[in-house]
Amino acid sequence: MRAPLALRGKPAPWRNPSPLPPELSELNLILLGPPGAGKGTQADRLSEDFGMPHVSTGDMLRAQVAEGTELGREAKGYMDEGDLVPDEVIVGMIADRLKDDDARDGFLLDGFPRTRGQADSLSQALSELDRRLVAALLIEVSDDEVVRRLAGRRVCSKNGHTYHVEFDPPKHEGVCDQDGSRLIQRDDDREETIRKRLAVYDRQTSPLIDYYETKGLLRRFDGTRAADEVHDHIRASLATLRLEEQL
Ligand code: AP5
Ligand code: MG
Repeated sequence: MRAPLALRGKPAPWRNPSPLPPELSELNLILLGPPGAGKGTQADRLSEDFGMPHVSTGDMLRAQVAEGTELGREAKGYMDEGDLVPDEVIVGMIADRLKDDDARDGFLLDGFPRTRGQADSLSQALSELDRRLVAALLIEVSDDEVVRRLAGRRVCSKNGHTYHVEFDPPKHEGVCDQDGSRLIQRDDDREETIRKRLAVYDRQTSPLIDYYETKGLLRRFDGTRAADEVHDHIRASLATLRLEEQL
């Protein structure tokens, strides 16, 4: 039996402090949703709330691209086209990451799994570690909203923190509030590539909604609400997990 997961860290200014039951054990979560739904935005907040790692395959791949590794060079072609990187590359990366010490009491997977093959591999990797997912959090938004959001997204060139020119602007234009680094636009945030990513999501990733619903793990959230509200709804939903476990 693993140690209970206590709430850690200082409250962030946007956080509505309605804590989870402190005895909540392993919080193994995945975030599902189309590109631009706000997965990264919510993952940052939840990871700060509960002190668990935010594991984003997109961020991991972009780090490999920035370092110029062989994996990064291979992945960049797929990413720039809005296609998925092959399962075998991604699955190995995640299986290793889940064994790290900081993921022992829980993790938040953002952008993985994205195919049925990845979902099956995750399930197998977790059962080999004698662990299980506790919920799949689906953030839902329309295609037009996705295009609006991604066209205005800016990210910190150093720490990856996300802003939006209209909905979540930095204090000083083009500069990260957290570390003063330059904000940049992602290479795949051009309208044509965004539309392609949406089509890829519909074809390859959206079947996972049924997959997790059938397993009784799916929880849906209206991603068109303000980011703070979506965050509150997710926290309220997570707070019921422990209660359900006790029933
Ligand atoms: P990845 O980086 O995962 O991109 P994605 O899934 O397309 O999602 P995004 O990061 O674009 O959006 P998000 O949902 O995180 O939204 P965000 O919070 O930033 O993957 C990139 C590529 O890597 C893929 O295309 C693929 O090639 C490859 N890849 C990654 N994982 C893979 C895998 N498992 N298998 C194969 N290939 C893989 O928010 C977006 C904007 O909206 C921001 O500006 C934000 O400020 C704003 N915003 C957020 N919430 C709100 C709100 N509630 N109201 C208003 N604005 C909001
Ligand atoms: Mg993201």
